[in-house]
Amino acid sequence: MAEVDDAAPYGLNLAEASPARVYDYLLGGKDNFDVDRAEGERIRALMPGVEHGVRAQRDVLGRAVRFLVGEAGIRQLVDIGTGLPTAENVHQVAHALDPEVRVAYVDNDPHVLVHARALLARNANTLAVRGDLREPAALLADRELAAHIDLSAPVGLILCGILHHIQDEDDPWRLTKELVAALPSGSYVFIHHLLNRGDEQSRSLSEARNTVYRTKDEISRFFAGLEMVTPGLVGVPDWRPDPDQVVHDDQPVLKLAMAGVGRKP
Ligand SMILES: C[S@@+](CC[C@H](N)C(=O)[O-])C[C@H]1O[C@@H](n2cnc3c(N)ncnc32)[C@H](O)[C@@H]1O
Repeated sequence: MAEVDDAAPYGLNLAEASPARVYDYLLGGKDNFDVDRAEGERIRALMPGVEHGVRAQRDVLGRAVRFLVGEAGIRQLVDIGTGLPTAENVHQVAHALDPEVRVAYVDNDPHVLVHARALLARNANTLAVRGDLREPAALLADRELAAHIDLSAPVGLILCGILHHIQDEDDPWRLTKELVAALPSGSYVFIHHLLNRGDEQSRSLSEARNTVYRTKDEISRFFAGLEMVTPGLVGVPDWRPDPDQVVHDDQPVLKLAMAGVGRKP
């Protein structure tokens, strides 16, 4: 019988860790390789308790989707930077409230696309396309995406854990603005972003990883022109906490990210 090893399927480059696979590893998933696990452990050494941070990220994503669909009445979601499938994926959370919600997953990692398509193959209201946040015009011009998401009706744009993977030189504020400009009034944007608290830990984390920790001021600029939904841009556990979710808010790692939702007037 052939041995199962880390040989790369789908022609993937396994010379470098991928954000999606490292995140999967930290969430306790199985879709990762040696290079990702090594990077995950490097992060854990710099950020003890990081698993609580990634868990909190998934939890706030779920709460945001429940808000968008259950409270704001949004019926179309575009999730850029989807990540590998795990528990409580965006379409599952949305469809538990309304199976008619249209969900478009966008990611630039081919590995994510293979998994997303396999998971979604039987779901007519959900689409997965390859796209890059750094190329908003191409993304908006994607024929499959355009056929799935009606840009004349409000959209919930989800940018969860992705903007900190975009370097300053790629101007993530301009990219976000271009995407928001394409959405109609009444649309919402949810952002989760790693926080630079101006301390030694934020500095060494930023240097050690290909990830940009930004200050609260820098993160709030992503919401320029939008009306903030209560409670505004806050620490992840404080964004509309769900009484049923167990929050380890004594974990210092939870102070290293912020979340917020803005509404396009
Ligand atoms: C840490 S995962 C976050 C997954 C999920 N959104 C969550 O918060 O649980 C970041 C995802 O963003 C994707 N990503 C990074 N840069 C991207 C880009 N420029 N365009 C599209 N996707 C990107 C990665 O492939 C990865 O799947």
